[in-house]
Amino acid sequence: MNLENKQVSNQLEVFSADIHRHIYEVTTDWCRGQNPKTYAERHIRDIQHFNKLDILSSGLDTLDAVRCLYDYRRTAIFANDIQKYVEPGMKVLDAGTGTGILAFFAASQGAKVIALELNEATCQLAKELYEYLVNIGMLNPDLIEFVCCDAVTYTPTHEFDVLLSENLYTGMLYESQCSIISNLIKYLRISGIVMPASLESYVAIGCTNSVENLKKGCVLVLDPALPESCDYFLLTQPVLYDSIDFTQTCFEGVNKSLNFIATADGRANVLWIAGTAIMPSGTSISFSDCDYFTEPVLLPFDEEHNVLKGEQIRLDLIYSYGCKPQDINIKMSHEWD
Ligand SMILES: C[S@@+](CC[C@H](N)C(=O)[O-])C[C@H]1O[C@@H](n2cnc3c(N)ncnc32)[C@H](O)[C@@H]1O
Repeated sequence: MNLENKQVSNQLEVFSADIHRHIYEVTTDWCRGQNPKTYAERHIRDIQHFNKLDILSSGLDTLDAVRCLYDYRRTAIFANDIQKYVEPGMKVLDAGTGTGILAFFAASQGAKVIALELNEATCQLAKELYEYLVNIGMLNPDLIEFVCCDAVTYTPTHEFDVLLSENLYTGMLYESQCSIISNLIKYLRISGIVMPASLESYVAIGCTNSVENLKKGCVLVLDPALPESCDYFLLTQPVLYDSIDFTQTCFEGVNKSLNFIATADGRANVLWIAGTAIMPSGTSISFSDCDYFTEPVLLPFDEEHNVLKGEQIRLDLIYSYGCKPQDINIKMSHEWD
């Protein structure tokens, strides 16, 4: 990932509605003002942290929800699609509201929003933020109802025009997006909108020399300045291995056999996975231009394989959506069937 390009493209993305930019600025300032030391101090970009969480039953940490908010380009792209598709009087369901930021954008369009959040502390933060935005006259009161609950089992009392659900992790790991959508899509009106619309996942075979980091398990690729980052290079081109359409109800997980041709010599010791979400407008949010969103992960192989340029490699990949990276079943062999 080229960090210079990343910064350039971050700067290019703008909020198309001034009200959304104002809401974003006030919301991020408010969060920084709550406990700036903790937010700045914690290295949240650490996959070990995610491994410790029980996201399926308790949600993310509040700081992780705040981190999503800070991912400027991701949040701006969501705001722009909300501006495009959410109209006054519409009913919006925001599953996994976090800081409430997407609910605030939708409410500023004049929609009535039900905002669901599993983590009680995060839900409380979102409520307080909403009160604050109402008090300073930025949003109207009584537009958002926050419900602290599990979106996987929540039963809406009426149909919705728009379903917002940003519970996406690289490769559809860790988070409950698919179970949440399966539960809630039944309550979306015909031709209603789901945001994001789909997720594409890419895989490649790579080589890293950061063996110490590998021993600790899979790692995020990350800023090279961070101690948990890994230097690596790819031994094959990335291949699209999964495309999940969130307007569907049935998600089965991944069970794929893939063929690669090595593009370099090296010791194949990691699997590289990255993702791109596609919005209803067709705008894509890719790992290459966000701060955290669908960031690449490296998963260590049980054993290394020496690979020669031009060699044919077969990869079998089996896992359930929402599982932890170490639960992915990976098998690499040197020749195609
Ligand atoms: C990736 S964050 C996104 C937050 C916010 N929507 C945004 O775009 O900034 C996902 C949020 O969903 C919450 N969450 C995860 N699983 C959930 C579930 N099953 N039901 C309700 N909320 C959930 C997490 O606790 C977290 O706050």
